[in-house]
Amino acid sequence: MSVNLKGRSFLTLKDYTAEEIEYLVDLAIDLKAKKKAGIFEKNMEGKNIALIFEKPSTRTRCSFTIGCIDEGAHPEYLSKDDIQLGHKETVEDTARVLGRMFDGIEFRGFSQETVEKLAKYSGVPVWNGLTDEDHPTQVLADFMTIKEKFGKIKGIKFVYAGDGRNNMANALMIGASKMGMDFVIIAPESLYPDEKLVELCRSYAKESGGEILITSDPKEGVKGADVIYTDVWVSMGEEEKAAERIAVLRPYQVNRELMEATGNKNTIFMHCLPAVREKEVTNEVIEGPSSVVFDEAENRMHTIKAVMVATAGK
Ligand code: CP
Ligand code: NVA
Repeated sequence: MSVNLKGRSFLTLKDYTAEEIEYLVDLAIDLKAKKKAGIFEKNMEGKNIALIFEKPSTRTRCSFTIGCIDEGAHPEYLSKDDIQLGHKETVEDTARVLGRMFDGIEFRGFSQETVEKLAKYSGVPVWNGLTDEDHPTQVLADFMTIKEKFGKIKGIKFVYAGDGRNNMANALMIGASKMGMDFVIIAPESLYPDEKLVELCRSYAKESGGEILITSDPKEGVKGADVIYTDVWVSMGEEEKAAERIAVLRPYQVNRELMEATGNKNTIFMHCLPAVREKEVTNEVIEGPSSVVFDEAENRMHTIKAVMVATAGK
């Protein structure tokens, strides 16, 4: 069965099968090789793409912008201060207007409900560039990087350390359980993921042959890890929680000791970036030989381009 994603939105990996996720990763690997060879197929010639940002961004914004330009599309950046979305105009009305003008819409912001409404009312593909709950395009870049380093995604032991209930932990747990990975979250109990989401992901893991372990014991959790991943302790919009988070997450810092506790000298270190050095990760680890964070950042561009081409391309 060949994969056809034309017209689909990309709001969460819950909506995608393992085969579809692997297809997007492989398309990104192909687009990366083509870009490096100077081949641009202009798969989105003549298309107009809206990029809505309620929250700041470096990688995601630049990936969508460059992805559009490489493929012949026009990107239009719309910050929350430029448009009426949810303030002077309902999300439904903005969605219907943008849907008449644009061929695809990226949204980064607070509520998952907003990105869902944009998809429902615009009638064009909508891509989630991060919400409080999810960050699915980041996971594609992470899986692409893993495939480049290990030649496969299924069966990889992936350990996420830190805030176990933020958008990255959620998105990675969804993606990893769909792909049949051996997935571990190490976090303090107060920051464990939502029980309902864990149950859903356990059902995906059952189907894919994956595993999910949630533990508060860092040394136990990292044993045999192929990948150790972390994210900021304080996500965008939660700044008032900084002191409390630093206090509770200190034992979950990714440092040399934690990397060595894997017992595997080939463990790689990953981070979605931006990173707060000496908080969730030491400078030594992020700058060290195990770190692949800049390959991962570059792969945002190739994977985001793949999502746009697959869903809104020719
Ligand atoms: N990883 C990521 O989403 O980065 P930005 O916030 O810079 O887009
Ligand atoms: N959890 C982080 C991810 C940034 C890419 C945040 O939401 O700020």
